Amino acid sequence: MSEKKKEVVMSGIRPTGYLHLGNYFGAIRNYIKMQDEFECFFMVADLHSLTTHPDTKELKQNVHRVLAENIACGLNPNKAALYCQSHVHETAELYLYLNMLAYKGELEKTATFKDKVRQHPENVNAGLLTYPVLMATDILLHRAKYVPVGKDQEQHLEMTRNFAQRFNHRYGEVFPEPIAFNFGDNLLKVPSLDGGGKMSKSENQMATLYLADEDDTIRKKIMKAKTDSGPTENNAAKPDYIENIFLLMKLVSAEDVIKKYEDDFNNCLIRYGDMKKQLAEDMVQFIAPIRQKALDIMANENYLKEVMETGAAKAKESAAGTIEIVRQAMGLKYY
Ligand code: TRP
Repeated sequence: MSEKKKEVVMSGIRPTGYLHLGNYFGAIRNYIKMQDEFECFFMVADLHSLTTHPDTKELKQNVHRVLAENIACGLNPNKAALYCQSHVHETAELYLYLNMLAYKGELEKTATFKDKVRQHPENVNAGLLTYPVLMATDILLHRAKYVPVGKDQEQHLEMTRNFAQRFNHRYGEVFPEPIAFNFGDNLLKVPSLDGGGKMSKSENQMATLYLADEDDTIRKKIMKAKTDSGPTENNAAKPDYIENIFLLMKLVSAEDVIKKYEDDFNNCLIRYGDMKKQLAEDMVQFIAPIRQKALDIMANENYLKEVMETGAAKAKESAAGTIEIVRQAMGLKYY
């Protein structure tokens, strides 16, 4: 009796910077939900990072950290294949084939490429130009159907569908066309603490809560968040920066706590100092165990090695199967 095969999910995580609350509620929480329902491949995109960061001094540290932080958040290496891109050599082969199907014109038009050219005109290398081909390779290597990514990766995903279509058209149906996948509540944006925009890796560090932040750093950041002297009439509309504090509270605080502050706001009784203190303590309760777990994992190189080896073995098995079909379809079998 054959067990129904689970649909394949694939996503890549760049090994740069520390993960923050926005990454957690935007991406990681989605991964965690998917690992039971789907066959998941979650990959650290170390090769992609070489397109912009040729200096590899900090790469090992960064790879370890991103793995540790994702596992600490609940990603389970026994359920999902958690691996490094560079450990799956089949990547290089499929990347080569797909490069023949990618046109210089479309690659030059990619938004992320144009951004990078503007930011680093001194390092416009071919790897940067074909970044979307490498990303398509990661996905197609597992013939994945769903790709949990944010809006900023939509164009790359569309290019992936184009490459898949071209391949299928020329050599026969091999690849499904992958689509972006999110559980509904993923659209939730985690607002930054300075009243504008959302939490991000690169912008104002004081306005972003990192999963590695110490308790006192978390408290300090939250207590600094902008407030005012409070509403002057009942049931007033909330200014953005106040709405943001409520949004953050909804992520980590208990229902009755949130309700109390909603009621206080609506009755003009709210004391923002108290509200921020409460939020800070609830945030510490949320982040501290993740931070500690990530530190423990980082300190255990043997465990990380085992995770990477197990993940790579699963990914290679899936990749080798695809490569075999691809060579066959392309007519590269001469005997
Ligand atoms: N390009 C993605 C990013 O910048 C990372 C990535 C690499 C990826 N390979 C992928 C995402 C495959 C989804 C699928 O975030």
